[in-house]
Amino acid sequence: MTDKKPHSLSPQRDREDEQEWTLRPQQLDEYIGQEEIVANLRVFLQAARERQEPVDHILLSGPPGLGKTTLASLVAREMGTQLRTTSGPAIERPIDLLVLLNSLRPKDVLFIDEIHRLSKVVEEILYPVMEDLAFDRVISKGMKKGAVKHKIAPFSLVGATTRGGSLSAPLRSRFGILFHLDYYDAAALQRIVVRSAGLMGLSIDDGGAHEIACRCRGTPRIANRLLRRVRDFAQVESAPMIVQELARVALDKMGIDRAGLDRVDQRILDALIHKFDGRPVGIATLAAAVHEDAANLEEVYEPFLLANGFLIKTPRGRVAGPQAYKHLNMPIQSELF
Ligand code: ADE
Repeated sequence: MTDKKPHSLSPQRDREDEQEWTLRPQQLDEYIGQEEIVANLRVFLQAARERQEPVDHILLSGPPGLGKTTLASLVAREMGTQLRTTSGPAIERPIDLLVLLNSLRPKDVLFIDEIHRLSKVVEEILYPVMEDLAFDRVISKGMKKGAVKHKIAPFSLVGATTRGGSLSAPLRSRFGILFHLDYYDAAALQRIVVRSAGLMGLSIDDGGAHEIACRCRGTPRIANRLLRRVRDFAQVESAPMIVQELARVALDKMGIDRAGLDRVDQRILDALIHKFDGRPVGIATLAAAVHEDAANLEEVYEPFLLANGFLIKTPRGRVAGPQAYKHLNMPIQSELF
């Protein structure tokens, strides 16, 4: 449960997950983008270090692939402590959480990914843990029954969620630091691509890095994945350097369009505009139309489309946004905006 990434069924994916870890910044100084978050985090970490206390509990929210896990590991690194990693669904029973808490050393960082998926019972155990570093241990030995207070080492909880809005108010209120990660701009992504290429021993020019940066949905994890695929094209074509034209052709061949929309995004826009004729659609209907899981659609695809005006949520359902029509060179059909 701890210090491990989830299992994957494909050796190729495993290798790429492994590589993704090696591309992550190892120090806060190496972190590119999210400047406001990094600057504030630096202050909170320095202040906690000076007081010789663990930093307050931190909640990181935002779409997948933006660096929540990286930031959690940098918190531990900057505090000079150990990172313990788990996830909401992995903590099935209260005992799983208690075992983990008991193993923490002072100022350790406990990272709970997908914290919105904790069960209610486990979440309720967390409240006194986060507030008083204590939990009630129920004992029933012979005639003795009751609860004893069990103390744990002062630690920092870092929770990550792709669904900030669905975290319960009592849990949210127990975090002292709340950061929302937004999509990265193209300039930051270009620097990330250049940095990753350097770590991978690849030659890339500014045009090549820019092309990948503009087509990765504002997401470093996707930028690194596209870089690996463009590298494959460069290798097979014996190209000495990834230049803009090579990156452009490779990304086109992979079905990633000039706005960075992949085939699923394109199916979503096509369904909204053509299949449903611009009428508002519910998430379940849309998911069925594009053969995707509704939760995946909401957590992975929609946030980018919403943030960039490709999709709009109305009280009656989802409609294609003005950018979708513009992107597809079509006149706007909907009178909803
Ligand atoms: N690799 C992935 N995300 C990164 C970031 N934000 N800064 C530097 N390298 C990264």
